[in-house]
Amino acid sequence: MEHAADDLINLRKYPVLTPGPGRDAILQQVRGDLGPRGCAVLKGFLTPAGVAAAVAETDGVSDKGHRSYSRTNAYFTADDPDLPASDPRRRFFDRSNAFIPADNFRSDGALRSILDKEGFDAFIRDCLQEPEDRFFRYADPLADVIVNAAWEGNGFPWHFDTNNFTVTPALQNAEWGVFSNMPR
Ligand SMILES: [Fe+2]
Repeated sequence: MEHAADDLINLRKYPVLTPGPGRDAILQQVRGDLGPRGCAVLKGFLTPAGVAAAVAETDGVSDKGHRSYSRTNAYFTADDPDLPASDPRRRFFDRSNAFIPADNFRSDGALRSILDKEGFDAFIRDCLQEPEDRFFRYADPLADVIVNAAWEGNGFPWHFDTNNFTVTPALQNAEWGVFSNMPR
């Protein structure tokens, strides 16, 4: 099904694709949050129809998710018994979730219609204040748009990884548990 990104993104509340004072005000808000907190949240960025379309798209391929279970520290490194027991590299947590790989999401599907909309990348780059030659989409064709799915009892502990930044549309609230961000 073809989607118009204008129906999926709440452009009335977040006019991020059009240069002007509305976009500038959002940039100011986002930059103000990113600086001290390392995280900015735009509540209601998608329209209800946009959330519904993205959830429906994801539900349609949820069986393609790769489930994994492991224990990991925040650095994804192996245990090092030479380190003191109190070292953060020796603190391991359960990690369990499913990633639905990017090749399940069509170019005319809801998620890519949102993320590939002309002006979207420029908005994110402006939020981050990164120059053009230092701002890139993830090039991995299996990971440029993934959906992270969790079932009851799953958890995904805080970690460092290889992304300089990430854009996360939160599509569904958990009926249990928490989604949290720790300011740096
Ligand atoms: Fe990560």
